[in-house]
Amino acid sequence: MILYFSGCGNSAFVANELARLTGDRLRLLDIADDNPSWQLDADEALGIVCPVYSWDVPRVVNDYLKRLKTNRRPSYLYLVCTCGDSVGNTVESFAKFTASLGWTLRFAHSFIMPETYVNLKSFKLDTPESERRKIAAVRQALPLVAERIMRREVRFEVVKGKLPWFNTHITNALFYKLLITDKKFRVNSQCVSCGICEKGCPLHNITMIDGRPHWHGNCINCMSCYHHCPKNAIHFGNATQGKGQYYFGRRSDV
Ligand SMILES: Cc1cc2nc3c(=O)[nH]c(=O)nc-3n(C[C@H](O)[C@H](O)[C@H](O)COP(=O)(O)O)c2cc1C
Ligand code: SF4
Ligand code: SF4
Repeated sequence: MILYFSGCGNSAFVANELARLTGDRLRLLDIADDNPSWQLDADEALGIVCPVYSWDVPRVVNDYLKRLKTNRRPSYLYLVCTCGDSVGNTVESFAKFTASLGWTLRFAHSFIMPETYVNLKSFKLDTPESERRKIAAVRQALPLVAERIMRREVRFEVVKGKLPWFNTHITNALFYKLLITDKKFRVNSQCVSCGICEKGCPLHNITMIDGRPHWHGNCINCMSCYHHCPKNAIHFGNATQGKGQYYFGRRSDV
């Protein structure tokens, strides 16, 4: 079984492709589900596919796995994460976390995909050319990764980047404490009240009131609402002005 979480579609694409190539069943890891439960077959692999947030697995994914009830331990547990450029010590951190559940992480792979984090002035989206290059590389690598999973290989193959320990432990803690907020979201007059932002929020944190989105303080900054708005009417303080949007499949030529 492949359980996936995705804000802007990169991880959803990877999860769908892995399911197609391995023949494994695919299920949404619904982070808003208070009482998740899945039955695993005796030899069934469990794959977690998700983005990297501040050099670690999103905390909401680990919280979901803590709540998750299964009939048995996964016989082969793997993590496939997507990132903009590097994952730091995500794998070590996830292996430690899953060990606390009594599970053993056997395999991990990171895919470098178009960036979705734009909440700080210095963080920019990929150029169209970089988007195309990254996605083409992922398409090319997916069959080999699927083959390795089907062979039940034990290996961790990720791009850690600079200062992996520091980023996963120190930067990550500061990121959650200081940067994650929905207080900076604003909607401008371009909004056409379509409700796409509300429907797409994985935490059901947005409600439409008088035709405008309102945020309710339970946000993980996945940026789905910002990137999917058809009018680019949502902004995060001044940080997103003029940056444009990205979600997987937005451009027809990749
Ligand atoms: C809140 C947040 C934090 C992120 N942190 C990192 C990071 O630490 N390293 C990195 O390379 N990319 C980071 N990114 C980029 C995403 O991991 C990357 O674009 C991913 O493929 C998005 O997956 P999705 O489309 O499935 O949501 C971050 C994105 C967001 C929204
Ligand atoms: S997605 Fe954009 S246009 Fe649609 S309701 Fe939300 S802010 Fe308005
Ligand atoms: S409010 Fe927007 S950024 Fe926050 S969790 Fe929902 S979709 Fe993601």
